Amino acid sequence: MVDQSLFKSVPVKSSEITPQHLFRSRRQFLKSMGVLGAGAFLAACSPKIGSQATSSVASKETPMVEPESTMATDELGDPVNSYHEITNYNNYYEFSTDKREVAVLAKDFKSSPWEVEVFGLVNKPQTFGLEDLLKKFTQEERIYRLRCVEAWSMVIPWMGLSLAKLLGEVEPLSSARYVRFETIMDPEQMPGQKQGFYPWPYQEGLTIEEAMHELTILATGLYGELMPPQNGAPVRLVVPWKYGFKSIKSIVKIELVDYQPDTMWSTIAPNEYGFYANVNPAVDHPRWSQASERRIGEAGRRKTLLFNGYAEEVAHLYNDIDLRDFY
Ligand code: MTE
Repeated sequence: MVDQSLFKSVPVKSSEITPQHLFRSRRQFLKSMGVLGAGAFLAACSPKIGSQATSSVASKETPMVEPESTMATDELGDPVNSYHEITNYNNYYEFSTDKREVAVLAKDFKSSPWEVEVFGLVNKPQTFGLEDLLKKFTQEERIYRLRCVEAWSMVIPWMGLSLAKLLGEVEPLSSARYVRFETIMDPEQMPGQKQGFYPWPYQEGLTIEEAMHELTILATGLYGELMPPQNGAPVRLVVPWKYGFKSIKSIVKIELVDYQPDTMWSTIAPNEYGFYANVNPAVDHPRWSQASERRIGEAGRRKTLLFNGYAEEVAHLYNDIDLRDFY
């Protein structure tokens, strides 16, 4: 097992790389938790574990864990979803296509020891153990919206490290134009991988510019706790301006390449899921509108924002392409 104290010992720094408004939300997050002392943060914002499941319904889900304060918000003022919501409504097809049973099926997933191999068009290929990722790189919290292509969304307080910093360690060659990510292949632990229909392992990709963007992180936890299995333990990608399927879970390989990599969903249904998958209310999915979304825990629907509300930070990456053609 990875020692949770490893996670706690990592300093939370005042961020030079977090955009100002996100940093403000971090301060607000800490403030709402009643702490601004960096060392105290992780312990203090760790959710309280309520009474253990007693009913049969509750015992099917992870323990009821709630944030200490419901006042924490993203930079737009939207409250974070509860730990319970974030950890009991999951897309993780390696375990199940039923969002509400992923937590139960994934609960014994063994994610330690764990290694992530970073290789390909780089000067210094390296394999990082999870402890290296936690110790060597500053873990920052980022309160991000996650917008699924299925038109639901949540606000999640992630912890994680900058992907750009990790890539900096391996020194990408100038020929590296894309980054390819791969989830672990382990059908014994992941029953869904025994189903032949899907082209396992789950794969995803980003352009090198997207991978190096300051908003892109490798998340190692949420709510100040190590990543729960159902959310992609021990390490998953988070790219907040793209549909959630780009945020690949339980990563074991990161390869720098000079071609646009295949991705799981664009292989299965290329007319429905593109490589870019930028959140865009003006470009509908062939089978449903993307103009609005259901925020989990909220009644009614809200308007979907271009690039999921991060246009100011990322729109320039797409100046030269037509977002309708490159969906
Ligand atoms: N990664 C893997 N390996 N397998 C998956 O099925 N689902 C994706 C993404 N990453 C998925 C994955 C989809 S469709 C979404 S919306 C998000 O994970 C959901 O992340 P969450 O369960 O943490 O909310």
